[in-house]
Amino acid sequence: MDNILVIGAAGQIGSELVAELRTIYGNAHVYATDIKQAPPDILEGGPFQILDVMDDKQLIHFIIRHKISQVYHLAAVLSGNAEKLPTQAWRINMDSLMNILEVAKMVEEVKKVFWPSSIAVFGPTTPRHETPQRTVMDPVTVYGISKLAGERWCDYYFKKFGVDVRSLRYPGLISYKTEPGGGTTDYAVEIYFEAVRQGKYECFLTEATALPVLFMPDAITATINLMEADRSSLTVHSSYNLGGMSVTPGEIAVEIRKHIPEFAISYKPDFRQAIADTWPHSVDDSKAREDWGFAQTYDLEKMTGIMLKEIREKLKT
Ligand code: SER
Repeated sequence: MDNILVIGAAGQIGSELVAELRTIYGNAHVYATDIKQAPPDILEGGPFQILDVMDDKQLIHFIIRHKISQVYHLAAVLSGNAEKLPTQAWRINMDSLMNILEVAKMVEEVKKVFWPSSIAVFGPTTPRHETPQRTVMDPVTVYGISKLAGERWCDYYFKKFGVDVRSLRYPGLISYKTEPGGGTTDYAVEIYFEAVRQGKYECFLTEATALPVLFMPDAITATINLMEADRSSLTVHSSYNLGGMSVTPGEIAVEIRKHIPEFAISYKPDFRQAIADTWPHSVDDSKAREDWGFAQTYDLEKMTGIMLKEIREKLKT
């Protein structure tokens, strides 16, 4: 039986991934960890421990003690926050990945590693429509540079040491359970929360800024499917493009108004506009579809209905 370690279990992806992994592998086999306390369902649903991935000794002890065979390393400083503290963000994003790759190389029981990359690996001279899997990559943000460097290290550890590390270039992820923090695509989550809370939202990107986004249930399924795919079917060992849907703040607002007709949106672009302006509008994820069967099941309309319903429920309690 696999024992799974999730690092960053209190975060936007981790809090949902842990729940799903526990359903599949059994509560006792999924070790949730973070540097901060996790939400109650994660704490009560199975093992949770405070663990700092930057502490390589603590990390290796944890992995050996609990006979961990799969690691999901989700902890990172996102794009907006990384611009505020560039060297610290670089250190956190890179050193944490290197710690994981080294442990996976050294500890034979660790069979697989998941590490998220991002559309932020692309840059201003990358083709912005249907961005190909292999193309120009010239990120101009600290976050993007750290993700691109990370991809190269993943590919290197796979080829040089046989470490089975798997990765996805997530687009903006939209969820209602745990809000993201410090990212550029955060607007696409905030907009729903503010629509329910206040009936209005001031967006930090312009009305027509198109970015790819994906609803969290599709992202969780994709992540687990990639990790469960036969190793021989995988042809990309840096990170797979994941497209989702290309949307603008204006388009989300139109969709929200179908449920909340009085919803008002205004636009006040801040420093994150310059980041968004270097990222793809849409992404070609045909490689992920071919190699391990990625499929998206939620479109903007379906996602909006669920987001608003779930946020209303959540804010009631
Ligand atoms: N959602 C992330 C961010 O905006 C991109 O991977 O930083």
